[in-house]
Amino acid sequence: MANPAFAQYLSDTAKRVDKALDGFLPKEKVAPQTIHKAMRYSVFAGGKRLRPILCLAAAEACGGDPQKAMPAACAVEVLHTYSLVHDDLPCMDDDDLRRGRPTCHKVFGDGMAVLCGDALLTEAFLILAHTPGTPRYKADAFIKELALTSGSRHLIGGQVMDLEGEGKSLTKAQLILIHKAKTAALLTTSLRLGAMAVNATPAKLAALTTFGECLGLAFQIIDDILDVTQSTEVLGKTAGKDANVSKATYPSIVGLEKSRKEAAALTKKAMAALDVFGKKADHLHQIADFLVVREY
Ligand code: IPE
Ligand code: IPE
Ligand code: MG
Ligand code: MG
Ligand code: MG
Repeated sequence: MANPAFAQYLSDTAKRVDKALDGFLPKEKVAPQTIHKAMRYSVFAGGKRLRPILCLAAAEACGGDPQKAMPAACAVEVLHTYSLVHDDLPCMDDDDLRRGRPTCHKVFGDGMAVLCGDALLTEAFLILAHTPGTPRYKADAFIKELALTSGSRHLIGGQVMDLEGEGKSLTKAQLILIHKAKTAALLTTSLRLGAMAVNATPAKLAALTTFGECLGLAFQIIDDILDVTQSTEVLGKTAGKDANVSKATYPSIVGLEKSRKEAAALTKKAMAALDVFGKKADHLHQIADFLVVREY
């Protein structure tokens, strides 16, 4: 990475998140052990921890103590991990590799992977409930935020449209709708929860929402691009699988070059929303820059 201080920030923050996750999640020894082993196997498999990092950086941009956003940061990562465990199931994307390891269902079996996803989804809300309310945002606002984003109106709705779209030729507008729902919504909520945890003003919350919506769409466009251009080894998940199941993706609809250009333009638009934060948003700027050039 070009900027060593930023690379250090990313790895230090990911370590702090991992430590907090370790404290929140049931230990492997807790009965029934199989499910707790499966949950920890999936969470501690070495993801980028992008959502929790965005959550903590949003708290910082709003001038608050990022530590106050740690339960929310852990909650979004656990919820994201559940979505990956289910996304990889044979009845969904049918993937054998995730985060550089055999997928949860390959190791623990399909039934246990379904239950592991269920348990992680539930656990995410238990962890989020550790967030005390603030003067502007009462405790229930945090739960509502995550529930709305992860349910059938957004994340699950996106996965439904993604599944129903397999083998069909979708329009670009339809694909954008899927990408916003299945991916951009949780990225946006990660930022919003971090801001809410430090009692952000409505104007700052709105700015972070715009940032998240643009960055989130760019993020899924890049995920589609990497599926075509990157190797399985670097990705840590099976490359080329979208085309294998005739999934509509950004490159399949608008081509690789135009996909790259649109991701860059969306990232620029996202960054413009950060002006209100001044220097406090340096980390958010760097994260946005990093996501465009990421290799996995
Ligand atoms: C992968 O997300 C799934 C998408 C929504 C595109 P990430 O690329 O953030 O996966 P991890 O958490 O680093 O494994
Ligand atoms: C995953 O999208 C979105 C969710 C899990 C909600 P993809 O199916 O493109 O993610 P990868 O490529 O398997 O990580
Ligand atoms: Mg999928
Ligand atoms: Mg998938
Ligand atoms: Mg993908």
